[in-house]
Amino acid sequence: MLRRASAVGKVGARVGATLTLGNEFEGKTMQQAVSPVLAVDGLCKTYGDHSAVEQVSCTVGRNEIVGLLGPNGAGKTTIISMVLGVLEPTAGSIRIEGIPLAEDRAGALACTNFAAVYAPLPGNLTVYQNLRIFGMLYGVSDLQERIDALLAQYELARFHDTKCGVLSSGEQTRVSLAKAMLNSPRLLLLDEPTASLDPSAADDIRHRIRDFASRGTCGVLWTSHNMYEVEAVCDRVLFLSRGRILLEGNPKTLPREHGKPNLEELFITLTREPLALGRGKA
Ligand SMILES: Nc1ncnc2c1ncn2[C@@H]1O[C@H](COP(=O)(O)OP(=O)(O)O)[C@@H](O)[C@H]1O
Ligand SMILES: [Mg+2]
Repeated sequence: MLRRASAVGKVGARVGATLTLGNEFEGKTMQQAVSPVLAVDGLCKTYGDHSAVEQVSCTVGRNEIVGLLGPNGAGKTTIISMVLGVLEPTAGSIRIEGIPLAEDRAGALACTNFAAVYAPLPGNLTVYQNLRIFGMLYGVSDLQERIDALLAQYELARFHDTKCGVLSSGEQTRVSLAKAMLNSPRLLLLDEPTASLDPSAADDIRHRIRDFASRGTCGVLWTSHNMYEVEAVCDRVLFLSRGRILLEGNPKTLPREHGKPNLEELFITLTREPLALGRGKA
């Protein structure tokens, strides 16, 4: 059976049920453990008469990597920009760690960070200078220790005094991830983090993200056009087309559920004939 946008509602219902459980126990730890890191409800963004994002509702759970898939122009970056608070939604709500972004922007964004190729770090600053400046902007305590730990974790110590602009794409992505980790985010947004990387560098980044998501209580929202990568990394995917969620599910089982041999074929069909597939199987 095709799991269309209605399936997202079911996910929301499940989350609602677990939230009720949390309220019953009145324990903050329990509440935090069961509530989603990110909850988006009825999100819309219109430009004139063009709907870039239309009634998108979704969640990102703890230790979960959710893939946001869809052709160019589907609305992925618009959604990420709204979650980051850099773009005002036309309608809908965004909660990060239960904090409504519209009401407590600083509180919601304090536990969020992101990395994207279109937002490179200033190239004329060294790796250390970039981490120091962003760490100060985020108000990170024990900043020097945090930077030292991240330089070691992301194998960047030898680039301490190297300007970011001269680093390779893979190295720059590692610096962007280190920067994104400075404030120990619980929600990590990644917009095509491996787009310009060679297979080995991309594999390294995937392992780092999986490692990040498996620890603590963090969640990741990730966009990629590499379906091999999506299948390997994501616990759940959302297919977007023209600003709407068409499908949602496990990337390993979704293709078979819709009679497709793999995720790439499903992606191509959904991109070329979104309405035909939706009507035929709904
Ligand atoms: N500032 C803007 N003004 C008008 N249309 C925009 C603007 N920003 C994005 N769009 C449109 O919104 C749609 C979604 O864009 P985007 O979120 O960048 O897609 P994706 O990241 O999935 O490739 C596209 O049709 C794009 O042209
Ligand atoms: Mg985009």
